[in-house]
Amino acid sequence: MAKKAKASARKKAAPKKRAATDYLADIGEWMVPGVHLRTLAEKKGMFAGAASSYGPIQEDVQFRETLAREYNMFAVANEMKCLRVHPERGCYDFTQSDEMVAFARAHDMQVHGHVLLWHISQPAWWTQLPATREGLMDALSQHIHTVAGHFHGKLYAWDVVNESLEGDGTLSPTLWYRRIGPDYCDHAFRWAHEVDPDVKLFYNDFAAESKCPKADGMYKLVRGMVDRGVPIHGVGIQAHVSVENAPPPDELAANIERYDKLGLEVQITELTVSVDPDNGTKEERLSKQAQVYYDITRVGVEAKNCTAVITWGLSDKHNWERDGERDDYVGTLPWDQRYRQKPACYAMKRAFMEG
Ligand code: G3I
Repeated sequence: MAKKAKASARKKAAPKKRAATDYLADIGEWMVPGVHLRTLAEKKGMFAGAASSYGPIQEDVQFRETLAREYNMFAVANEMKCLRVHPERGCYDFTQSDEMVAFARAHDMQVHGHVLLWHISQPAWWTQLPATREGLMDALSQHIHTVAGHFHGKLYAWDVVNESLEGDGTLSPTLWYRRIGPDYCDHAFRWAHEVDPDVKLFYNDFAAESKCPKADGMYKLVRGMVDRGVPIHGVGIQAHVSVENAPPPDELAANIERYDKLGLEVQITELTVSVDPDNGTKEERLSKQAQVYYDITRVGVEAKNCTAVITWGLSDKHNWERDGERDDYVGTLPWDQRYRQKPACYAMKRAFMEG
């Protein structure tokens, strides 16, 4: 995606802080038919994305309609994970993931594939493999070749490796690390590139938004891959954040910019914003949440190498982080349980317009 149009936007002043109540006052201004997230994102040469599992798309008409109307990128939340596509060694099942890709194509949405290698959601057969480097390399290579090969030409991006880092920025002692060694990430990217040379290959992780050892560890990991000529094209900054501990916008912007210097794209891949239920009235919490959605989206819009802002889900009706049944519950996503836009949704739209 061409990002030239964004270069000048980047020179603008940093996002100004808005009074949280502005979002509530301004709701009427945004309720214009036809002003959809995807339209606003497209004007910036970007994607507005949402992740979904198979269930809501199948069963919930409102979910489906909102997804297709508002978003131009779709992240497959669970159905491309190893547990789902490769439950027994050598037995693949792409039924649901194929339907989801077809849905995206039918609605002119690009697909962000998730995920080729993650130590969570792995079927048990991995632990029964011969305990040799060769045995695991062989199985991993077959898995990646088959899955990335199956979707050849159909995806915009793949999360090739997900969440491989500890909080201190070092590689986690996963099965792959212990049996293959620290170069397992390089191999994963190379295998994916062999079978689908046009898809963009991403490293994706959480808690690496602003200045911290993990963000630095992620940068170091990725820079090493670039230096070694590994085919990596982007970085996914997940951004599962909270109102109370939101990433400072200037730190997030600086973090994204250093990947630009490596020639890499960045996507905000799993944005959710939780809010402490005791942090004010419901209206206040909605406004504070909107401010964080605004800040993160605006940083993404202004960064010349950020191509997407993707939320991990869409409506609080199908919210993986839902806790409890409080009447004044504020879920982490931009649409409420009845598919009404929350202040967070208006804030994203405002950020796409103002950034
Ligand atoms: O589909 C089954 C359903 O048939 C069954 O009745 C139910 C019983 O628990 O489980 C359902 O599967 C669950 C699935 O989510 C769909 O809701 C799995 O148990 C559950 O483990 C799975 O959790 C997912 C989790 O990753 C682990 O794969 C979450 O939905 C998904 O949101 C979460 O996503 C991760 C990203 O991949 C990586 N970044 C963090 C993010 C949030 O944790």
